[in-house]
Amino acid sequence: MNYAHITGWGSYLPEQILTNEDIARTIDTTDAWIRQRTGIGQRRIAASRDTTTGLALQAALRALAVAGLPAADVELIIVATSTPDYMFPSTACQVQGHLNATRAGAFDLSAACSGFVYALHMATQAVATGSVSNALVIGAEMMSRVLDWQDRETCVLFGDGAGAVVLQGSSRPGGVLTSKLRSDGLQSDILCLSAANSNPIPALSSENGHARPVQNTISMNGRRVFRFATRVLVESVQDILAMANLTLDDISLIVPHQANFRILESAAKQLGVSPELFYTNLEDTGNTSAASIPVALCKAVEDGRIHSGDHLILVGFGGGLTWAYALVEWQKDVASIYIPATYHAAAFARA
Ligand code: ACO
Repeated sequence: MNYAHITGWGSYLPEQILTNEDIARTIDTTDAWIRQRTGIGQRRIAASRDTTTGLALQAALRALAVAGLPAADVELIIVATSTPDYMFPSTACQVQGHLNATRAGAFDLSAACSGFVYALHMATQAVATGSVSNALVIGAEMMSRVLDWQDRETCVLFGDGAGAVVLQGSSRPGGVLTSKLRSDGLQSDILCLSAANSNPIPALSSENGHARPVQNTISMNGRRVFRFATRVLVESVQDILAMANLTLDDISLIVPHQANFRILESAAKQLGVSPELFYTNLEDTGNTSAASIPVALCKAVEDGRIHSGDHLILVGFGGGLTWAYALVEWQKDVASIYIPATYHAAAFARA
């Protein structure tokens, strides 16, 4: 068996910033309410010409550059997304085409905000068994396109972006040491995004008093999602520590799905650790769904919060309901990374 090491990482956020004040000019909300209830101060919004594929591609190019892996050598591409540009071709196939990654298999994975950790788990299995020697794992979302901008309970929460990691197989111990996937379809009604041809899930409108779902926009029972998220975040950390025979003292950083700062505070309290153990960047990004963990991971590296030899826990939770968690032993020393001065993203793209 090989170890699946994270050897590259990259993120991409669209340029346009939408602040809480901007939103408060169009609907009945305030910067103070959003900050106090969620911890979010602003989010990035894609331009009308942007695509989920484009965001994913930018993150992928940066991750490949850090790994020093030519696109032609990539063997597997998984894109976790709930906001693909098309049902088919998949976002992953489009990324594969733009990269000209001719040796790679490619597919999209749907597990909402847990999608990145789901994809990381699947790619790790493929690398560990030797089925592939490397994989590009991407989370990419255009949440702004699936929001009802009049629904103040949901539209203030989300943002757009993409993040990616490169996994490479090695006999050297480390990398993604263990991971687990979980789901609870019986609670699927509390967080939904309908497809173009779907009938709404009946329970959502009757049980929770939502006047929605509106076709193709997110519907959510915020209080129930909050309770679910807090519970599974705590249980996930406890379970992965038990699986790896470690304690919280062994963990340098937890990089959770970036949904709401109060969820992280509550989980930290229940686990008896400082909230500082949970990395958060949602003040600047909002909730970018499947992109949130890789985007946060990249920012944590940039902030100097991750070093070679550190044990990290990644935890995703979201629609489905789904949740997933992974324990990573970080091996690549940031200081050892050399990106040529002449590096240019286009060098990896199709001529
Ligand atoms: N601005 C001002 N007031 C608002 C807003 C808003 N944007 N949204 C709701 N309110 C009002 C409500 O209408 C309600 O008013 P009322 O008391 O007159 O009825 C009041 O604020 C309190 O509403 P609550 O729903 O109790 O507020 P709560 O403290 O639970 O916060 C929130 C709501 C932020 C949605 C919270 O429940 C939450 O974060 N839940 C988790 C949901 C989540 O993170 N979803 C992301 C997707 S899922 C995922 O990533 C896991």
